[in-house]
Amino acid sequence: MGLMNELRAERQPGADAISLGPNEMQTELALGLSEAQAQISPKYFYDPLGSKLFEAICQLDEYYLTRCEAGIFAGNQAEIAEVAGRGVTLIDLGAGNCAKAAKLFRTLRPQQYVPIDISAEFLEAAVDALRAEHPQIPMFPLGMDFSEGLQLPEQVRRERRLFFYPGSSLGNFAPLQALQFLRRIHKASDAQGGLLIGIDLVKDAELLEAAYDDGLGVTAAFNRNVLPHVNSILGSDFNLRDWGHRALFNEKQSRVEMHLQALADVTVRWAGGSRSFAAGETIHTENSYKYTRERFLELLAQAGFGDARCWTDDKKSFLVCYAKTM
Ligand code: AVI
Repeated sequence: MGLMNELRAERQPGADAISLGPNEMQTELALGLSEAQAQISPKYFYDPLGSKLFEAICQLDEYYLTRCEAGIFAGNQAEIAEVAGRGVTLIDLGAGNCAKAAKLFRTLRPQQYVPIDISAEFLEAAVDALRAEHPQIPMFPLGMDFSEGLQLPEQVRRERRLFFYPGSSLGNFAPLQALQFLRRIHKASDAQGGLLIGIDLVKDAELLEAAYDDGLGVTAAFNRNVLPHVNSILGSDFNLRDWGHRALFNEKQSRVEMHLQALADVTVRWAGGSRSFAAGETIHTENSYKYTRERFLELLAQAGFGDARCWTDDKKSFLVCYAKTM
C-alpha cells in the first residue's frame, strides 16, 4: 500500500475518490511481482468473478466469520440501534452485495445509505435491487478504493455519519495501516458520528487455517482467480495450472497469510518485465490480521474512538463493536 501513496491519484467522476488508473495498476503490479517476496495486493481479488467467489466463501461452513457476525447482529439488533442511533447516514465500507447493511435498515432507519465498494459494477446491481425494496432511503453508491481516501460527495450529509465496516475487513490492513485508516474514518465524521465494526478474534490455528483453505476449494479458487485478473490488467501470461493455493496462520504476526505457490519452475512475462519463480516459491496475496478484544479496543482508542460497546458470540470467535467519534 505504501507504493500506492506515491503513485498519482486519479479522481472518479462524482465520487471525488482516489483510485489507480490502468497504467498505475500496471506499475503497482509489476513492482509487487518483482519484490524478493513477490506480492499482489488483495484488492485485485475483486473482479466480478472474485466478488462472486467471495460471496460463496461467506456461505462456507469453515468460514465461521460471516455466520458468527450475522448471529451477533441478529441477537443484539435493538441494543446496537440504541447505541448507534436512528436516522443516521449509513456509510457502508466495502458494501459488496449490501446484504449486511440492508439487514440493519429496519432498526437503524438510516436517512441516507452510502454503499462504497471497489467493484462498481457489482455494487450497482446490488443497489438497484435494494432501491426497489427501500424507495424511502436515498442511496448514493460509490465505486471507489476507499482504503486510500475517504472524500465523499457533497450529497452525503456530514452530520451523524455511521461508518459500517463489518466482516473483519479491517484485518486485511497491517496494524499501522489499520490505525491510519481508522483515523481517516474518524476525520470524516463529526462529533455525533460513530463506527460499527466487526473484527475476527485470535483462535486456534487449525480453525483459522480451515477458514482460509476450505474443503470445497472455494477459497483456493478465489485466491487463484487473481491471476487471470492480473493478466487482464498487466498483459502477463500467468497460467492458472502452474499455481496452487496456500493458507497459513503466522502466530507471531497474528495473521492468516494467503499465498499462491508455484507448482513447478515457471517464468511469468509481461510487457517490459518478467519474473522467474522456482517450484515452491510463493506470491503473497493477502494478510488477515486477528485481534484480541483488548488489542482491538486499544486500536479504536488510538484512532480517537471512545465509549466502545462490544458484542461477541458464545465461542468468542468474532467481535462487533460500536464506538463514538469523540
Ligand atoms: C474481505 N476479508 C475480510 C476476507 C478475510 O477473511 O480476510 C477475505 C478473504 N480471504 C479469504 N477468505 C476471505
